[in-house]
Amino acid sequence: MHGSSTTGRPLYHIFTRIPGRYDLINHVITLGMDNGWHRQAALACLQDQPTRILDICCGTGGLAITIAQLAQYAPDITGTDYSQPMLEIAAAKASSSTTGKNIRFINADVARLPFADNHFDCIGISFAFRNLTYKNPLTQSYLNEILRVLKPGGRFVVVESSQPKSSFIRFLDHLYLRLWVFPTGYLISGNKGAYRYLAESALHFYSAEEMLEFLLKAGFKQATAKRLFFGAAAVYIAVK
Ligand SMILES: C[S@@+](CC[C@H](N)C(=O)[O-])C[C@H]1O[C@@H](n2cnc3c(N)ncnc32)[C@H](O)[C@@H]1O
Repeated sequence: MHGSSTTGRPLYHIFTRIPGRYDLINHVITLGMDNGWHRQAALACLQDQPTRILDICCGTGGLAITIAQLAQYAPDITGTDYSQPMLEIAAAKASSSTTGKNIRFINADVARLPFADNHFDCIGISFAFRNLTYKNPLTQSYLNEILRVLKPGGRFVVVESSQPKSSFIRFLDHLYLRLWVFPTGYLISGNKGAYRYLAESALHFYSAEEMLEFLLKAGFKQATAKRLFFGAAAVYIAVK
């Protein structure tokens, strides 16, 4: 799949050009909070002791590897992404960690997941649901695939940027996106478009209430939110 046509793959170029320093940049632009946010999402994924777990848009494997580290048992964990450079970093990180060695990393677009219907007990996604849904013409096909491969009663766990409720904190959060996230990401990566897109999409993305409504409309039966860092991010749990 790597190097194939980008037709029907919005954002593909962005995520095949930034991987080298991706983890470092994430760490800097989130002021070191990225690991804690992966941890919160991983704990939500593990709550019902799922057997088969899928991390979609796994990037460099942050969520999948954290799930493997926190699990008190041995779940079957798969990470998928359409960026081969991201997957290569993920596989190298996982194989050098004691608990991540058995994670399977597969190149796959969320629009065409190579799994049987109702296969996974839990699907997680960290900081990529925005990519799948913000002004993305393929949103519906992504949602269809996620719902198809998730078991009835299975959990879909999303950790994503959100909108703080307090207008003052939201103002500070938006300043942080404009004056820290965009220039710092651009400076370290050299990729202006990628970090302009990140800041712009985060500025306009759903609040927790809007996101819950979106998940229910998409076809999930229940959805709950837990706000993180004054609402700048949130973990959502939606049940099929
Ligand atoms: C912002 S990164 C997040 C990576 C990782 N989940 C994390 O927490 O750091 C977004 C990831 O989504 C992937 N991605 C975006 N759209 C995708 C799609 N339609 N199918 C598969 N991967 C996709 C990108 O390649 C990229 O690795």
